[in-house]
Amino acid sequence: MRIVVLVSGTGSNLQAVIDAVKAGGLDVEIAAVGADRPGTYGVERSAAAGIPTFVVDFKSYADRASWNAALTSAVEGYTPDVVVSSGFMRIVSPAFIEAFDGKYLNTHPALLPAFPGAHGVRDAMAYGVKVTGCTVHWADAGVDTGPIIAQEAVVIAPEDTEDTLHERIKIVERRLLVATLAALAAGQPNAGHPN
Ligand code: GAR
Repeated sequence: MRIVVLVSGTGSNLQAVIDAVKAGGLDVEIAAVGADRPGTYGVERSAAAGIPTFVVDFKSYADRASWNAALTSAVEGYTPDVVVSSGFMRIVSPAFIEAFDGKYLNTHPALLPAFPGAHGVRDAMAYGVKVTGCTVHWADAGVDTGPIIAQEAVVIAPEDTEDTLHERIKIVERRLLVATLAALAAGQPNAGHPN
């Protein structure tokens, strides 16, 4: 199974995928890692691991449609079976979703459909929920919407800050992402679900 991973930031969840592949515990080929802006640590760490990388810089395009078209053709060039949004903080347009219909996987640091968007951890804390978590799902053209594959809860501690909670969520998120990819690679329809 060939995957392309899209990142906007540090790519620590991506690193868990890289580590699992290197350790022989995940039978996928990371065909490439792409970013929406230059200078991300996600791309830097991928290049250091010998993975092909590309940047389709959002700011270099006149409008979202032309950026989206460039991103779509860059990803298509790697002929992926699955495209993973791993902290990719741009909304892709329906044309991208159509190009990778049923192949675009996203992870989110909240129990969707609660708290979608760029600040899932902060929004959950602000609301005052006592339990949040993370979600791995097939992404559609909405903001963190689409069929849910796997979820796991994380309890919010009274002393949590956004950073401490997000880090605890990411530990779970990495495990769910790797398990989901492993199940997909093994052709299991219930990919990632613990049951
Ligand atoms: C992850 O928690 C991911 O779920 C989140 O960004 C973080 C990326 O961390 N994505 C979203 O909030 C998407 N709405 P990383 O760059 O360290 O892997």
